[in-house]
Amino acid sequence: MSIITVSHLGKDYRQIRRIDGRFGAVRTLFTRQSMTRTAVDDISFSIEPGEAVGYIGPNGAGKSTTIKMLTGILVPTRGAVEVLGVEPHRHRRRNASRIGVVFGQRSQLWWDLPVIESFELHRHVYDIPPERYRAMRDRCTELLGLGDLLQSPVRQLSLGQRMRCELAMALLHQPEILFLDEPTIGLDIEAKDRIRDFLRTVNREQGTTIILTTHDLADIEEICPRIIVINRGGLIYDGAIQSLKAQLGSQRQVTIDFEDDPGPITISQATLLSDQGRRKTFAVERSVESTLAVLSSIASSHPVQDVSFAEPAIEDVIRTLYAGLGKAVPESDELDRWSRGRVVTQ
Ligand SMILES: Nc1ncnc2c1ncn2[C@@H]1O[C@H](COP(=O)(O)OP(=O)(O)O)[C@@H](O)[C@H]1O
Ligand SMILES: [Mg+2]
Repeated sequence: MSIITVSHLGKDYRQIRRIDGRFGAVRTLFTRQSMTRTAVDDISFSIEPGEAVGYIGPNGAGKSTTIKMLTGILVPTRGAVEVLGVEPHRHRRRNASRIGVVFGQRSQLWWDLPVIESFELHRHVYDIPPERYRAMRDRCTELLGLGDLLQSPVRQLSLGQRMRCELAMALLHQPEILFLDEPTIGLDIEAKDRIRDFLRTVNREQGTTIILTTHDLADIEEICPRIIVINRGGLIYDGAIQSLKAQLGSQRQVTIDFEDDPGPITISQATLLSDQGRRKTFAVERSVESTLAVLSSIASSHPVQDVSFAEPAIEDVIRTLYAGLGKAVPESDELDRWSRGRVVTQ
C-alpha cells in the first residue's frame, strides 16, 4: 500500500498582472488583469512506506508548491493527492499528527524561548505520551548533538544549530512521513553532513518515510536512492539515481598516474579531460570492455603507477537530463517566471 499517491496533480496561482510604464501602478489597479501561472502540471507518482525520495528541480520548478499540497497547506487546482489514506487539505489536523514538516526558510520554533520550551509546547499540541516524548527527545538530542542548545533562546542560535533543532522538533511526535523543503539551504558543509547523517539514521531506525526537496544534489545522493525530477511544473524523471546514472552517465572518468610523464597521448576510445603531466584523466565509455581496452592500450606503451575511476557525478547526469529536454532547459537560477502564464482578463 502506498503511503502517498499523487495523480495528475496541478496547481495554478493567480496573480494580478502588473502594467509597466506611465501610471503603471494606477492602471494595474483598474484593469484587473490577472495571470494564471501553472506551478505544478499533471504530476503523478506514488511512494511506499519507508522510502527516502528526493524531489528535485531548479528554482521555480514547483517543488515547494508540491510539498505544500502534500502537507495540506495548499489545495490542488487539478488532480488528486492522498497521504496516509486521506486528502491532506481536508484533514489537516488528523494529518498533522502523522506527518512532520521542516521548511528551510521558515522556523517552527519560538524565537524568544529556549528551544526546550518549543519542544514542550509541541508535546502538548501533539499530545505525545511523556515516555515517548522523552525517548524521542533524547534520541534526537544525541544524534543531532543538541546538548546545551536546548537551553538557548532560538534567536541566539546559528542557522545550522537552529535547523538541527527544527529537525528534532518535527520528529518528536514520531511522524510516519517527514517532509523537508530545502533543509540544508545556507548551511556549511559540516552542518549539512550532520543533517544528512541524521536523516539517514531516522529513515533506517524509525522507518520514517522521507520526502526531501533540495537543489543541493549532494543531499540527494547521500539520503535518497530514488529521485523525482521536475522542471517547470512537470515531471521529467522518476526512478533510482543509479539507473539515471546508468542511462545518462554513459562515460566514466579514468585517472592514470604514470611513472614518468609520457607526453601527449591520444587513444581512439578515450577523450583526454585533463593533463597534468604524470597524471592524466580520460573520459571512457562505461562498459568494462572499453575501460579495459583503454587501460591495456595505455599500459602497453607507458609504465603506469596507479589508476583510479570516478563514476559520473550526479550534477553532470542531471545536466544531461535537462539538456535532453531541448528548449525547456532552465536558463539560469532565476527561471523565466511567467513563460507559461496565460493572460486572463476578468
Ligand atoms: N504564492 C504564489 N503566487 C504566485 N506564484 C507563485 C506563488 N508561489 C510560487 N509561485 C510560482 O510558482 C512557481 C513554482 O514555485 P515553487 O513551488 O516555489 O518552486 P520551487 O520550490 O521549485 O523553487 C514559480 O514560478 C513561482 O514563482
Ligand atoms: Mg522552493
